Amino acid sequence: MRADWLIHSADEVLCLTEAPQRGAALGTLNVVAQGALAVRDGQIVEVGPSAELRRRHRAARETDATGCVLMPGFVDPHTHAMWIGDRALEFEQRIAGRTYSEILAGGGGILSTVDQTRAATVAELVEATRPRLRRMLAHGTTTCEIKTGYGLEPESELRMLEAIARLRRSMPMNIQATFLPAHAVPREHAAKPDAYVDEIVEHMLPRAITRWRELCGEQAPLFVDVFCEKGAFTLAQSRRIFERARALGYRLKIHADEFENLGGARLAVELGAASADHLVATSKAEIAALGTSSTVAVALPGTPFGLAQAAYTPARAMIEAGATLALASDFNPGTSPCESMQMAIALACRYMRLTPAEAIAAATINAAAALGLADRVGSLTPGKQADVIALAIPSYRHLGYRYGTNLVKWVMRGGKRVGRG
Ligand code: NIG
Ligand code: FE
Repeated sequence: MRADWLIHSADEVLCLTEAPQRGAALGTLNVVAQGALAVRDGQIVEVGPSAELRRRHRAARETDATGCVLMPGFVDPHTHAMWIGDRALEFEQRIAGRTYSEILAGGGGILSTVDQTRAATVAELVEATRPRLRRMLAHGTTTCEIKTGYGLEPESELRMLEAIARLRRSMPMNIQATFLPAHAVPREHAAKPDAYVDEIVEHMLPRAITRWRELCGEQAPLFVDVFCEKGAFTLAQSRRIFERARALGYRLKIHADEFENLGGARLAVELGAASADHLVATSKAEIAALGTSSTVAVALPGTPFGLAQAAYTPARAMIEAGATLALASDFNPGTSPCESMQMAIALACRYMRLTPAEAIAAATINAAAALGLADRVGSLTPGKQADVIALAIPSYRHLGYRYGTNLVKWVMRGGKRVGRG
């Protein structure tokens, strides 16, 4: 059989073919020891024992992966990777004892990033974001989501969407976009938040999806997200935004229960959202509801870690309830200034008590499900896009166990090597 590329002699190949991995099925890695992988025309054609594949395939290029684990590239289904400036001073204020919510209520936090992001052109947004995406790639992330949400007025939010569309075309990554005008109530609407919700529902949602389709084609999906939280948007406001967005053809995501429970997870299940994210203060009844729904529960352990908070997503209860659990970085300048899914895995193992195998599945195939991409990426399955990473470790058990250094040796996206190595 002809292949463009044969990668052989890997200590382990993690196939993760079962998708999505609900409840106790989480962590089904389908490990091939002494494995190989054949790639043709940007797709995976076969995965199996090295000795067999070397006999069967004549490949133009061969790579020896001795001493490495091969696995699907990480999928990061929740990022705010596009912003201008930084929040280093706010970090010091939090060290001194101010909380994230107090800083936001005082007009800082997200709103200080909004001031800087509003002033940027599309080209400036693209160039500020590109190096962050390169670092994500270098850390093994081949698919990610990027949210708007630092414009909070029509023109700036549309500039963010346009910048995401440009990166989608120019970066060797799969990029999904999420429209998040309901990330915070902008200062000019502070006295009348409902007037801002009116503007979102009546003007911003229809304009954004029309623009997105002009930029990326009729078929390109667009998600909408709402920060449903005290000090941000109420449950009733969230419902209004989602119902309108759904009618316009958006898929739904929600920031729910990051600090307090407003009922956002239940709303996500009721409306058939693709995912509900954060889920720290989620109730038992809502965990049970997630357990029987197709809404993916996305945990973001970088956020409580970034805020030095004790409470994390109750992942074991979610797994027990049968939920589809995924992991994401929540990469953003305020709560989680870290682009590494390896770090998210290390935190999930310690604070959410996931095994490395569970965390790996949550960061690949289940994360792909949270973006509606489980048929294209997230596993090493013949026919899927050849998004493959090699980690310089002898066993998958070293992911999560080790942290603080980049374990990625090389990254392949769509059958081509990218990033370092
Ligand atoms: O997911 N909570 C809302 N959004 C982000 C933080 C964004 C920011 O602080 O800039 C989050 O934690
Ligand atoms: Fe977020």
